Amino acid sequence: VSLAALARDPSYGTPTYVYDLSAMAVEARELTAAFDTAPHLVAYAVKANSAGPVLRALFAEGCGADVVSGAELALALVAGIPPERVVFSGVAKTNQELDQAIATGPRGIGAIQVESVEEIGRVEARASAAGRVARVAVRVNPGLGLDALDTHAHIATGHDEAKFGVAKGDVATAVGLVNAGAHTELVGFSVHVGSQFKDTGAYLDAARALFAMVATLRAEEAKGLVFVDTGGGFGVDYGEGPVARPSEFVRAVRREQRALGLGDLALHVEPGRSLVAAHGVLLARAISSKARASGGGLPPRRWLMIDAGMNDLVRPALYQARHRIVELGARPGPRAAFRVVGPVCESSDDFGSHELADPPPDLVAILDAGAYGYTMASAYNGRPLPAEVFLEGGRVVDVRARGSIAHWVEERAGLTSSRSPSGA
Ligand code: LLP
Repeated sequence: VSLAALARDPSYGTPTYVYDLSAMAVEARELTAAFDTAPHLVAYAVKANSAGPVLRALFAEGCGADVVSGAELALALVAGIPPERVVFSGVAKTNQELDQAIATGPRGIGAIQVESVEEIGRVEARASAAGRVARVAVRVNPGLGLDALDTHAHIATGHDEAKFGVAKGDVATAVGLVNAGAHTELVGFSVHVGSQFKDTGAYLDAARALFAMVATLRAEEAKGLVFVDTGGGFGVDYGEGPVARPSEFVRAVRREQRALGLGDLALHVEPGRSLVAAHGVLLARAISSKARASGGGLPPRRWLMIDAGMNDLVRPALYQARHRIVELGARPGPRAAFRVVGPVCESSDDFGSHELADPPPDLVAILDAGAYGYTMASAYNGRPLPAEVFLEGGRVVDVRARGSIAHWVEERAGLTSSRSPSGA
């Protein structure tokens, strides 16, 4: 099926995300192969793209899940993941979410990755109340310099000022507490220092810092350790040139792990973006164009207003991210630079300048939108959440309907019956 045909088909329309499930499965397969026979878990970061068909495609390839909320945990389980293949990260897990993680399956989830010394006391208390032993991993903040992390400040997490993880100086205390708890069992250590790394440099620095710490602790305090987790963050090429493949990150980290005598521990990684970003596009329709003539000291400029906005794909507005935009059904002929913008009443609702056919096309695709697109979408300006279409082997196999305007109006006006603020 062609993207243009999908966008023109009134039963799909625009704005619509389209995902290639087969290509996502291939990504997972290639990454998994990099572990060779080493024990491992590819814990897919569900926050990147939480659509059921995506989860099922990745779980079928043997991926586990990295979740950051009770909702994501419930979703991953409904999508068929065994509880022991789930790890739970997050700086502010509620007691309710801890209870959920502890109560799931015969032994709770694979690991609650604690992000503070304070959280350990709560895990112990909740596990004790449930009469269970919770498997715990300590997420360490290796305190790398923000400069060393070489990514956008909003997506760097492994530096001293970040809210994430247990500071190096507090790790011994954390380990002591987990060991002392009758209902907590220390199974792993993790780091996650940022996202969209284009080469292995900072990722390896973090892994090395983690492994050095673990090698020391393992002699005494952490004898029952099962895994080390070096987090997600493998970058993708948004059009600026090739980046290191996820498999290269894994091979480099495995070498370090063996060098420090930790080769027997399972290696967990938590990729989100790298498995899904390149295999999703956001289809949009041109609503109108607008030209500003030169004059008044201003250069001429042309805008193309499309029906997808920052509420559908917030990355450009939030991180100054650039996504390539291509016309569907490209035709030969003159081209011109257009400032492609959405309909939302915000200056930041702007996808940047793109060379497009002139006169401008009626349909475009925003590329590399498979990660952090739909999952970060909102109904701002009363815009319903976009539709989603799932392809397998080039055929439509599943569809999620666009959000309904009528439902939005009813809900905002207070006309719907769901009035419980707990939302349970
Ligand atoms: N593990 C943890 C603990 C994380 O916080 C994240 C992402 C990941 C794994 C997955 O990282 P990835 O492999 O996708 O880079 N919304 C931003 C990215 C935020 C990432 C948040 N944490 C964006 O659109 O660029």
